[in-house]
Amino acid sequence: MSGRVAVVTGGTGTIGTEVCKHLGAAGHRVVALCLPGTPDCVPDTWEAARKAEGYDMRVVGCDVADYEDTAQAFAQIEADIGPVDILVNAAGITRDATLRKMDPKQWREVIAANLDSVFNTTRCAFPGMMDRGFGRIVNISSVNGMKGQFGQANYAASKAGIHGFTMSAAREGARKGVTVNTVSPGYIESPMIMAVPEEHRAKIMAEIPVGRFGKPAEIGRLIAFLTADESGFITGAEIAINGGQHMQ
Ligand code: CAA
Repeated sequence: MSGRVAVVTGGTGTIGTEVCKHLGAAGHRVVALCLPGTPDCVPDTWEAARKAEGYDMRVVGCDVADYEDTAQAFAQIEADIGPVDILVNAAGITRDATLRKMDPKQWREVIAANLDSVFNTTRCAFPGMMDRGFGRIVNISSVNGMKGQFGQANYAASKAGIHGFTMSAAREGARKGVTVNTVSPGYIESPMIMAVPEEHRAKIMAEIPVGRFGKPAEIGRLIAFLTADESGFITGAEIAINGGQHMQ
């Protein structure tokens, strides 16, 4: 067990929690970031639930869409726990609307939460990783960033942007032991999917060859693999995990 320090944004959400648990099971010291005031962000309850499962994990409240707040959170984590070796960007929101109806606020909120956040956290963690000669970054994108989705111009743009960021950062980190990869989940059993109206969900399900939505633990397992010390030859990749919904 390497006992590296791992930070997971959106770490108390449905997918984020599974990512944290898989990183914890791999022996890492895990810190989950969450946005104070949101339903998923109840640090004491989340920490107690993980303790009951045998994990010792911390929650730090942070608005990752805001650079100053993010910098403060990373400084606190480094002082209290240690330098960050693994970063998983799992924070993300939707504000679905057709372009005819989408207002600039819906556009901006999604770009800020999903894409600005990836810059903010990486900007804080990346220099230290390069200086120490080791780092693992995984950015969670989406099948809809690869293929587009009716009603998701904002979300798909943010998720497609993530992979451009990943490939650039991967090039910068490659000679310094820092890998940067994108994981693009399809439709995973989570509140985000349950918020899609039933008629649309049924149509989406019909497009998935495997015939079901994915499980959050399946994402956690992939990310534990990519962030392992032994995964140093995988970088700049976009790895689809979507039940065959979109094949390239
Ligand atoms: N394809 C083609 N046409 C569609 C359509 C689709 N998928 N969905 C709606 N339409 C059509 C309707 O039939 C209707 O046509 P007419 O005007 O000819 O009758 C028209 O579009 C309705 O347009 P509106 O602007 O009024 O649409 P709306 O406000 O009723 O709903 C929406 C728009 C909220 C985006 C709705 O389509 C929706 O919820 N779609 C699902 C979006 C989705 O899949 N989100 C994924 C969330 S999960 C996630 O993002 C996680 C991940 O990474 C995978």
